[in-house]
Amino acid sequence: MYPGKVNLNYSAVKWKLTQCQRAAPIILFRGFFFILIALFLYTMYHVFQFINYQELIKRNTPLSDWTIGTSLNLSDYISPLDDTALIVPRGFCKSKTLLLIVVASSVNGYDQRQDIRETWGNTTHFNYPVFAKLHSHLKGSYRPPMESRLRLYSDFLSGEGETLTASVQVVFLIGRSKNSSPRDNESLVQVWEEAYRYNDILQEDFIDTYNNLTLKSVLALKHVKNSCSESTAYFFKCDDDTFVNVPNLLQFILGGTVPLYNDSILYTSRWQSSLRATKGVMIGNKFTDSQPIINVNSKWYMPYYMYPHSTYPEYLSGGGYLLSIDAVQRLYEAAWSTKMVYLEDIYVTGLSAQQAHLKPRHSSLFTILRTTRFCSFKAMIIHHQVKGRQLRDAWKFFTDFSEKCSPPDSIVD
Ligand SMILES: *[C@@H]1O[C@H](CO)[C@@H](O)[C@H](O)[C@H]1NC(C)=O
Ligand SMILES: *[C@@H]1O[C@H](CO)[C@@H](O)[C@H](O)[C@H]1NC(C)=O
Ligand SMILES: *[C@@H]1O[C@H](CO)[C@@H](O)[C@H](O)[C@H]1NC(C)=O
Ligand SMILES: *[C@@H]1O[C@H](CO)[C@@H](O)[C@H](O)[C@H]1NC(C)=O
Ligand SMILES: *[C@@H]1O[C@H](CO)[C@@H](O)[C@H](O)[C@H]1NC(C)=O
Repeated sequence: MYPGKVNLNYSAVKWKLTQCQRAAPIILFRGFFFILIALFLYTMYHVFQFINYQELIKRNTPLSDWTIGTSLNLSDYISPLDDTALIVPRGFCKSKTLLLIVVASSVNGYDQRQDIRETWGNTTHFNYPVFAKLHSHLKGSYRPPMESRLRLYSDFLSGEGETLTASVQVVFLIGRSKNSSPRDNESLVQVWEEAYRYNDILQEDFIDTYNNLTLKSVLALKHVKNSCSESTAYFFKCDDDTFVNVPNLLQFILGGTVPLYNDSILYTSRWQSSLRATKGVMIGNKFTDSQPIINVNSKWYMPYYMYPHSTYPEYLSGGGYLLSIDAVQRLYEAAWSTKMVYLEDIYVTGLSAQQAHLKPRHSSLFTILRTTRFCSFKAMIIHHQVKGRQLRDAWKFFTDFSEKCSPPDSIVD
């Protein structure tokens, strides 16, 4: 009986066994696989935790001026209602201005201001008629200004065709020095004299340091919003080591395109779009997916307490960006409810823009390239880190209209 039973069971067991034998590797494999995945996820989790932690300690060093306790609320630094300006140009924004260029300068930046005044900043001389002279040999390879935009902005323009002139104003925005040494006092007197002579200085009441640039940019928005909303169409912010190709910028604002040149074809897009929007314009060199800098020695180091996220929103390079006047107002208003960071371009064109639902747009004409090839100056709207001798040399080349820079090879034939 027993053996029979065993026999019977044996075949059942055997049958089960064979099933098991067949299934075992699969089950084992599956189990192993799941354990592997779990282990992998577990490890990755800890790796990420670790990286995050590293990031945190790495961005844990405080800034020497914007320390942990320092308020990041704009209203602790800027008064929206009081006029805190120390010097304002006479008749600032009283007349119709198509383009107001505000150059972020500094108390001791006289030489740079003078270089700009005598080169690209001389907009009586360096205005739209220069566009045709610069690009005369490439006529036909760029689109002229749009009729609709010429009509729209007719209040800001005089003349027509190649004598068309736009109203452009250049203003230098500076803060004040700590005013503790006689040398500072001296520069204060100099600034007054300079302001009187050139009538292009806007001085505000804040201490002018690199880490205070956010205050400078917001104060620029404040003045433009308060004084220029009715009189001005476009606001352009740049640094005092930026070369601004004003004729190209005007061509762009008026809806035309700038011809392509061989020396900049690597940086510019072959499909240059023209500006069509008249409202909500915010355009420059756009950075996407950039991350806070961990390196404490970097000029752009960002401590965690100031910006506790791992990426920045899209923003435009502070070297030069263009805003339509309504965008100035929207950014300025949004800034009050945006927690400050000391990097002005990220704060204004990134975080405040996000708050204002304004989208930064990229144009390759605003590239941040640095080149010694002067021909590429003709192809762009801005050039970064050009000052002193290089600016003068570039200018000389630039205004020698017999210098014909080559278009891209493919257009030559
Ligand atoms: C600007 O250009 C005009 C015309 O070329 C010239 O008379 C004037 O002196 C220039 N201004 C400066 C500050 O260089
Ligand atoms: C500082 O400037 C004021 C005028 O603004 C002048 O009266 C005073 O003598 C100056 N002081 C020094 C130490 O240069
Ligand atoms: C920035 O400006 C504010 C207001 O003038 C001043 O209190 C602060 O010390 C300045 N910060 C730096 C780093 O200079
Ligand atoms: C255009 O640029 C390329 C490289 O940048 C160069 O090899 C070529 O000779 C240039 N052509 C002209 C017409 O300057
Ligand atoms: C800044 O402070 C003011 C009042 O002191 C407050 O209304 C505002 O919401 C604050 N802004 C931010 C971004 O916290």
